[in-house]
Amino acid sequence: MNSVTVSAPSNIALIKYMGKIEGSGNKPTNGSLSYTLENLRTFVRLTEISGPVDQWKAFVREDLTPIELSEKGQQRFIKHLGFLKMKWGVTQNYLIESANNFPSDCGLASSASSFAALTLAAAEMFQKTHPQSWGTDKKTLSELSRQGSGSSCRSLYSPWALWQHEYAENMALPFENLHHLVVIVEDSKKEVSSSEAHKLVTTSPRFEGRVDRAEMRLRDLTNALRFNDWHLARQIVWDEFIDMHKLFETSTPSFSYMTDGSRQVLEECQKLWNKWQDGPLVTMDAGANVHMLFRNDQLKSFASYREQFAANFKVMAFEGVKSNVH
Ligand code: PMV
Repeated sequence: MNSVTVSAPSNIALIKYMGKIEGSGNKPTNGSLSYTLENLRTFVRLTEISGPVDQWKAFVREDLTPIELSEKGQQRFIKHLGFLKMKWGVTQNYLIESANNFPSDCGLASSASSFAALTLAAAEMFQKTHPQSWGTDKKTLSELSRQGSGSSCRSLYSPWALWQHEYAENMALPFENLHHLVVIVEDSKKEVSSSEAHKLVTTSPRFEGRVDRAEMRLRDLTNALRFNDWHLARQIVWDEFIDMHKLFETSTPSFSYMTDGSRQVLEECQKLWNKWQDGPLVTMDAGANVHMLFRNDQLKSFASYREQFAANFKVMAFEGVKSNVH
């Protein structure tokens, strides 16, 4: 049986994709910038099958945690493969198997890494079987992946990815080797999916001006990073996720991912920053967990934050060495 296995990393946005242009296949209302999380990966195995339809099942491999996907989640994945097959003119059916190398019950999203891995696996398979029919350059693949899940289009680049319109691109910035810590405040499935959040935020009175605010922060953050201004970068990143969470809270109906645990962690981060006048970049996605990125010269504080938060919460910490898993 013809089969390929591919993996792709997750990413964390520092300037957020929140709000999309209706009917555009996940084109964003504003540009976003992300740091790729090389150690958090989804593995996809694609195998030709003789059955009448494409299928999905969990990838069982000793070193991986199988993804648990709802029927809706499975159909979304299968639909994206169908879309890719259509682009390549492929009629063959496949079994998709997928799994993460991180626990599925830790509240870390895997849609970016999942859709990026599926897009890469399909491209590798179709390149073998239909070499002439479609481009496999990164921009094309990023654009295709975007149509499965917006944020996945950034996962094709490392370490920094900028996504403004159709596809993401690599962005050359310093701080290429950050250390990533996540304080797992909530590990249950979120009630409002990011797809719903993208729609709801447009009802917020704060959505007016959101595009300008995000675009301005995108410019200011890339400049701050370019000029090694960590203090300014940290402030912009903080303002940005607070802005996104305020959109959630002022939508109709309003919703929130922040829990008392999130607030407690954020407060502690602020105290530590005030004390040392230094610390990690802090951000939150559409969830309750708090992500932190430390510079290479902050390994000591990376270890002490890890220890401090582990006293009250589940913590996952990843040193920024490039992973060698494939
Ligand atoms: O790709 P989606 O539709 O799951 O949206 C992701 C949205 C955020 O994670 C909240 C922000 C981002 O830019 O990744």
